[in-house]
Amino acid sequence: MSELLDKSDKRTKYCGEFTANDIGKKVCVMGWCQKQRDLGSLIFIDLRDRSGIIQLAFDENTPKEVYDKAFRTRSEYVICAKGTVRARGEAAVNKNMPTGEIEIAVEEYKILSSSLTPPFAITENSDVKPELRLKHRYLDLRRPDMQKRIMARSRLAKITRDYFEENGFIEIETPNLVKPTPEGARDYLVPSRVHPGSFYALPQSPQLYKQLLMLSGFDRYIQIARCYRDEDLRADRQPEFTQIDEEMSFVTQEDVIAINEGFLKRVFKEFLGKDIQTPLPRLTYAEAMERFGSDKPDLRFGYELVNLTETLRSTGFKVFADAIQSGGSVRAIKIDGGAKFSRKEIDSFAEFVKTYKAKGLAWYKFAEDSTFSSSYAKFLDESENKAVLEKMNAVPGDLILIVADSKDQIVFDALGALRREIAFKTGVIKSGDYKMLWVTEFPLLEYDEEDKRFYAKHHPFTMPMEEDLQYLDTAPEKVRAIAYDIVINGTEAGGGSVRIHVPEIQQKMFSVLGMQKEEYEEKFGFLLDAYKYGAPPHAGLAFGFDRLVSLLLEIDDIRDVIAFPKVQNASELMTGAPAPTDSKALSELGIAVVREE
Ligand code: AMO
Ligand code: AMP
Repeated sequence: MSELLDKSDKRTKYCGEFTANDIGKKVCVMGWCQKQRDLGSLIFIDLRDRSGIIQLAFDENTPKEVYDKAFRTRSEYVICAKGTVRARGEAAVNKNMPTGEIEIAVEEYKILSSSLTPPFAITENSDVKPELRLKHRYLDLRRPDMQKRIMARSRLAKITRDYFEENGFIEIETPNLVKPTPEGARDYLVPSRVHPGSFYALPQSPQLYKQLLMLSGFDRYIQIARCYRDEDLRADRQPEFTQIDEEMSFVTQEDVIAINEGFLKRVFKEFLGKDIQTPLPRLTYAEAMERFGSDKPDLRFGYELVNLTETLRSTGFKVFADAIQSGGSVRAIKIDGGAKFSRKEIDSFAEFVKTYKAKGLAWYKFAEDSTFSSSYAKFLDESENKAVLEKMNAVPGDLILIVADSKDQIVFDALGALRREIAFKTGVIKSGDYKMLWVTEFPLLEYDEEDKRFYAKHHPFTMPMEEDLQYLDTAPEKVRAIAYDIVINGTEAGGGSVRIHVPEIQQKMFSVLGMQKEEYEEKFGFLLDAYKYGAPPHAGLAFGFDRLVSLLLEIDDIRDVIAFPKVQNASELMTGAPAPTDSKALSELGIAVVREE
């Protein structure tokens, strides 16, 4: 039977907060039974709450009724215990426990709630299948490591609010039932009962609202905002996630960067006790691609891309020659000490690059004793082989990996991903090392071969660079945007841009994106109208809040820093969402579900 709390049952403090200074005090604690040990004439219970553990002790002096209840107590029972703090006997001191010098000699005891045996132990780092953890997320969240993560998240939110408030930012909420905002993902739609056949979208971000708040004169806006995107999930992507969303008026890119470098400085200091040097390094998008094959380069290690196109321009080796002649490139990375990789491992790298559409991976293993083996050397003549080694600055012990393709993008994607994949294997990445940078001058547009049209690389409200405006009609692919991403350890932690505040440029942008006047008037007329009433120049940025927490805690999967995340297929395993709804609710919404056979 569960007992109830009464008025006199008041917790003194959290379990983990007791120290030797409390010896002799009468106290009251509440929490979960971590474990009960029955030693015959003695019982010990480790009582746990969010702060830690304290030992409860029961012996021959304990009232019998209390002793009997302690005897019945099992793991995860919820307990209220009152007693006196005392020093443990010398032999019983546990140096691994912050409260290991003391215990509570229990005099009063209530079992507030009993528990079934949990499906997994409520301990740190327990090796439990993710599905089981998520199905019983309330138990998973009881584990001390998960508690620390969720509390760290709360701390970051507090630092964020403090910093932006001190810098004149105003927190403003924006709606969750909106007209679709194009951020490039599919929308989650919410049917309207009042307007059958019409739908709200859940916001992919508060983008347009924050811009309109600048028109309203709030000058500096911040929101810790939920965003919703129906896209394929990965370790760093959730269908609903949180952004630190910001917007500023009368500023340029430099002001946004400065405010956010200040924010990162503050976060790293307060959160990790680390000083970061600002200004942070910057690379243009073009440089980032050329050197790292990625617009979110991981700067914690080398393995930079080297362009071998000129070196091999007149080669007879068909794989390389074809790529070069069709306007593509041949590029390589050098893995220092990589000659130790086995053939099997190198074959697995070749498989890996295929997932990035590369057709193959050519390799050259330069052994420590200066002998070599290679997949391509026999197809090159001696001078070409020598030129490649020279260009790569190869020394014995190195491994050279080459990708050739008629499309530069494929070469970049394949080598960019491969250098990081290999870095995780060679151990060049050290825990606690943070390398961050800004990537700037992104292309404004991206051409989609399938749809045969341009899409905005960031979003359609991003200002083109002034010197590139001239190409907007003639060569849109050449136009760069005033857009910037903040990259931390190879992850896009945030991104933003200077916005278009001139209606003519915004209209032009919509046309470049293939929209007719009627279409953009219908979709974004409110924005174009607003611009007619005095729009300040404005710019902003959004951090992925979940990503930032996971980077700071060095956790690979953002699910581990979200209390109730979704799995790969966008369902939530604990509640079973999404779920079919009853036909009455559907008919009120004017919706009929067609099931595919
Ligand atoms: P963007 O789409 O780049 O920009 O998003 C900003 C940041 O949000 C994070 N992020 C995600 N995190 C988890 N799961 C996801 N599915 C997900 N998608 C994005 C990333 C990303 O850098 N409105 C603009 C910002 C602006 O221009 O001010 C925007 O949303 O860390
Ligand atoms: P092949 O002539 O197909 O046997 O290829 C010889 C070597 O070149 C093999 O190691 C292939 O993996 C490699 N190779 C094939 N296609 C490419 C490519 N697109 N880029 C780099 N290497 C390749």
